[in-house]
Amino acid sequence: MSQDQKPWGGRFSEATDAFVESFTASIGFDRRLYHHDIRGSIAHANMLANVGVISDPERTRIVSGLEQIHKEIEDGQLAWRVDLEDVHMNVELRLIELVGEVGKKLHTGRSRNDQVATDIRLYLRDEIDQLMALQTELLGHLLDLAAEHTSTVMPGFTHLQPAQPIVFGHHMLAWFEMLIRDRERLTDCRGRVNVLPLGSAALAGTTFPIDRAMVADELGFAALSENSLDAVSDRDFAIEFCAAAALTLTHLSRWCEELILWASQQFCFVDIPDRFCTGSSIMPQKKNPDVPELIRGKTGRVTGNLVALLTLMKSQPLTYNKDNQEDKEPLFDCVDTLRDCLTALNGLIPALEVNVESMRAAASSGYTTATDLADYLVVKQVPFRDAHEVVGRAVAYAIEQNKGLEELTLSELQGFCEKIDESVFDVLTLEGSVAARDHHGGTAPDQVVQAIQRARQRL
Ligand code: ARG
Repeated sequence: MSQDQKPWGGRFSEATDAFVESFTASIGFDRRLYHHDIRGSIAHANMLANVGVISDPERTRIVSGLEQIHKEIEDGQLAWRVDLEDVHMNVELRLIELVGEVGKKLHTGRSRNDQVATDIRLYLRDEIDQLMALQTELLGHLLDLAAEHTSTVMPGFTHLQPAQPIVFGHHMLAWFEMLIRDRERLTDCRGRVNVLPLGSAALAGTTFPIDRAMVADELGFAALSENSLDAVSDRDFAIEFCAAAALTLTHLSRWCEELILWASQQFCFVDIPDRFCTGSSIMPQKKNPDVPELIRGKTGRVTGNLVALLTLMKSQPLTYNKDNQEDKEPLFDCVDTLRDCLTALNGLIPALEVNVESMRAAASSGYTTATDLADYLVVKQVPFRDAHEVVGRAVAYAIEQNKGLEELTLSELQGFCEKIDESVFDVLTLEGSVAARDHHGGTAPDQVVQAIQRARQRL
């Protein structure tokens, strides 16, 4: 393409170097913004007509041309041109082809700088809405699973060592809390995304009598950007989104790590249905938990995207710099990866088979009621530190005898502290142990039932 065909060709005396043309182009990835780009352009054209910068018939021709381009793109008919650099100029040049001279008026009073910032915000707002719907679905699956298992006992862990008995529903509610905070973070982020930059033009605003409120209204933005320099320049809203996505993936990676452990032969707490697993090309017996493993792995790329965007923005002088064109791929990748991971879990979690017996056996075998015995002694007026010491010795003895604490005889137990009586066996049971944690936030089955009810309200 000769320079006078490029929308900015006027002051140039030679054609762009072929490599530079493809190096500077973003059409390869920003074409995905076409829908939002056209929406923004239609709102801009409507506003220009409303304030009298273009006539009504001109507006009509521009808008119908833009609608036709939208259709061409959806039908795969538009041939994207690298020489036209990006989605904005591809759409604009196609408009001029379609509607003639009047198409050249669309760009009045705006710049690609406020245009691209508007497109990304519109795009991200839609994606956030869809991602939040997926999060809500997943939160619902977690509550359903929790509700089925309000009295299924399993070991709770610290240091991955059996620590104290808990119920499985309580464990699921822990994931619920993390994931609902992740959803809150997207809500917060959405508020700061939902601000209209259009009208800032290249950086300083425009000389035309624009009506920014009208554009904001048509596009559903809750506010107008307050400063034109900031509006075309900063991408903090995208960084915030990627930070929220990275934190979500970090949570999902922890959850998936547990699913992987729990599905192992060693734990056998859950079974992941075959349709979510793959086999080995050499070991015929293998069934691998690929889906949670991949989600765990994908956390790396999302965190990488966040770091890429932070580094991209670092030290950039005001206002727009071409660096900002590099904002899109990390952002798109965060959106896509988060969507895929949530979608995968929305399939897997309702299909998870829970092995109640294995969980119970694991809770019984790890001396997980030792704290209950110490608390029992405290009620019998033994200071906690002494009680801790006494129970530690009892556990060491039980390990030597290859028995559980509840399998020791009363006289064996009394050998460690004479204040122990028959009632000790109530606190050494798994049910007694969980039921005793009977307060807001505790693992007692009654508390878990109430926590699920409260959680449903928050959905
Ligand atoms: N493709 C560009 C981007 O994504 C659009 C804005 C270009 N602005 C400019 N002054 N070159 O950032």
